[in-house]
Amino acid sequence: MEDTQSKFPTLEVTRRTLIETGATALVLSSLPRGALAAGSDQAELSQVSIDLRVNGNLHHLTLDPRTTLLDALREHLALTGSKKGCDHGQCGACTVLVEGRRINSCLTLAAMHDGHSITTIEGLAFGQDLHPMQAAFVEHDGFQCGYCTSGQICSAVGMLAESRGGMPSYVTADLTRPAAKLSDDEIRERMSGNICRCAAYPNIVAAIKQALGEQI
Ligand code: FES
Ligand code: FES
Repeated sequence: MEDTQSKFPTLEVTRRTLIETGATALVLSSLPRGALAAGSDQAELSQVSIDLRVNGNLHHLTLDPRTTLLDALREHLALTGSKKGCDHGQCGACTVLVEGRRINSCLTLAAMHDGHSITTIEGLAFGQDLHPMQAAFVEHDGFQCGYCTSGQICSAVGMLAESRGGMPSYVTADLTRPAAKLSDDEIRERMSGNICRCAAYPNIVAAIKQALGEQI
């Protein structure tokens, strides 16, 4: 009888190889063109060159393609206002605005934002004048230790833009009518991705309501 096993060797796919292959494919597929340099037979990962416009200033960066946007801002541009709380997308301390939309910068690769405009907490103020959201947080004591605050403020600015754009939330009662006025429940739900270990939530909601009144 013919030995079929020797003809068709068993392909061993373990859970580990599956996860590793998937993770590699995810990283490679997210890189801009030019991030891969052809080797002899195999493509090798190399440095990637990108342009980021951060707070109005253009930066040309050459990075390991695995660098997160948060690390690019903090470690390469010395913009340490955005905080690393969990590095897993769970706390919101790293929230920045990319093309006006809030994003957890720890969960995205810098290489995915080549050519994008990014606003961090350092870029919200107008010269010496605080952004109205910053001023409202100061006025209402929307913080204690302050570690979550830059993420809270950037998130709140992005959240108000979403709301004004008619984006509903999980607690929006009437989806046909965008909320013109955000209730406390709406604000809490829309800000639920930003955790405050000091539990300054009532003051944060008060600050956002004041800023909302100022029509940012
Ligand atoms: Fe990004 Fe916590 S550091 S969500
Ligand atoms: Fe301390 Fe929010 S002010 S974690």
